[in-house]
Parts: sequence; structure tokens; C-alpha cells
Amino acid sequence: MSNYWIAPSILAADFARLGAEVDAVVTAGADLIHFDVMDNHYVPNLSFGPLVLSSLRKYGVRAPIDVHLMVKPVDRLIGDFLDAGANYISIHPEATEHVHRSLGLIREGGAKAGLVFNPATPLDHLAHVLDLVDLVLIMSVNPGFGGQKFIESSLPKLTDAREIIASSGREIRLEIDGGIKPDNIAAAARAGADTFVAGSAIFGTPDYAATIASMRRALAG
Ligand code: DX5
Ligand code: ZN
Repeated sequence: MSNYWIAPSILAADFARLGAEVDAVVTAGADLIHFDVMDNHYVPNLSFGPLVLSSLRKYGVRAPIDVHLMVKPVDRLIGDFLDAGANYISIHPEATEHVHRSLGLIREGGAKAGLVFNPATPLDHLAHVLDLVDLVLIMSVNPGFGGQKFIESSLPKLTDAREIIASSGREIRLEIDGGIKPDNIAAAARAGADTFVAGSAIFGTPDYAATIASMRRALAG
């Protein structure tokens, strides 16, 4: 694994063939599988839940799974996703009354904890929970749908988050999610991201390996 991780979002996969789709992106070079959970309450869309994750584990998926919870309330579902085999679980501060407690639940359950910031959400919470997070996720679209346009103001926000992480001296991944493609992934990396979610840019192309390779070339160049 290079220090740059590519995380295909299976929200853009063919759900009728989900196990095969995950195998295909893993073979194509994915580092992490991004698993977008939507509840038609915190976000205006519905996707899939912990039963789908445990089915993928039973099917034989061993790749690390990065669960992005867009659900409110969130705490009870954290346990279900821990049991289902999540490696990372990320939450939105707006979706829990007690951010510190929710992050603690994830860590105590043995997964890595992530905190997600929507385009208009300031990074303020971060300073108070730096010792409880393994991943910071900057949304570069409003959560709820794949295939949206990248919001440019997420670039300076990535840089701010990178500075906070660097001055903490902690090992925290910095992930960007929404509208990432081969032609803007390098700008996100220059701004500070090291982990890149891409849904439609990967699953919307016929050759997943070629697309991931073009992302890696952009990151290397
Ligand atoms: C949006 C999700 C994203 C989404 C990204 O709420 O969090 O992970 O699947 O999709 P693309 O890469 O198509 O913007
Ligand atoms: Zn996501």
C-alpha cells in the first residue's frame, strides 16, 4: 500500500452484483472499500446497512472497509457495523448529540474512528477530539448522492485540516469524498489529502484497473 489510498465508493456499483464488483475493484488496486450508509433522514437518500456489509464479509471480502455513516441517530448502528466487520467507521458531528461518546464507541469496539465535515461545517470540533480520531473526512459535495460536482472550497479546507493533523503529531488519515476524478485527484493531494474516495469516476468506467492506474499516475506526477 502506498501512502496514498484509493477508496472506491460502492454506492456507484451494480448492487445486483455487489460481491463481484468489490472483488473487481480490489483486483484493480483499491486500498479501501468505501461503504456509504444513507437513511433518508440525515441525508435525502437510502442506500444499504449492516446486513449488506456482513454479507460481503461472508462472501469473502477481506479488504478493509471504510463505513461512512450518514444516519441520525448514529450510536445504535455503530455496534451493528462493528459486528458486521467494519474497519473504519466515520460519523458526522451533526448526526450525534455527543460526538466524543460516538467516537469512543467506535474505538472501544475495535474499529478506527473517523469524523466527517460537510462543505459548510467548520473544523472546530476537531481540536477537541484529536485523540479520538484516526481519520478526518472532508466532504467535497453535500452528502446524499454520488456523481455530484466537486466543491472547490474543500481544497483550502483540506489544507487547514492537514495543518491541524500535522501540529497534533498524530497518525490521522485525511480523506476527501465527492466528485474526485483522475483530473482533480492531484489537486486534492497537494492540498493535503492522502485518502481518496471515488464512486462514479471508477464504477462509471468500463476498466476499473485503468481508471485507478490513471489516478495513481496523477498522484505520482
Ligand atoms: C456522498 C458519498 C460519496 C459518494 C461519492 O454522500 O459520501 O462517497 O458516493 O460519489 P462520487 O465519487 O460519484 O462523487
Ligand atoms: Zn462517502
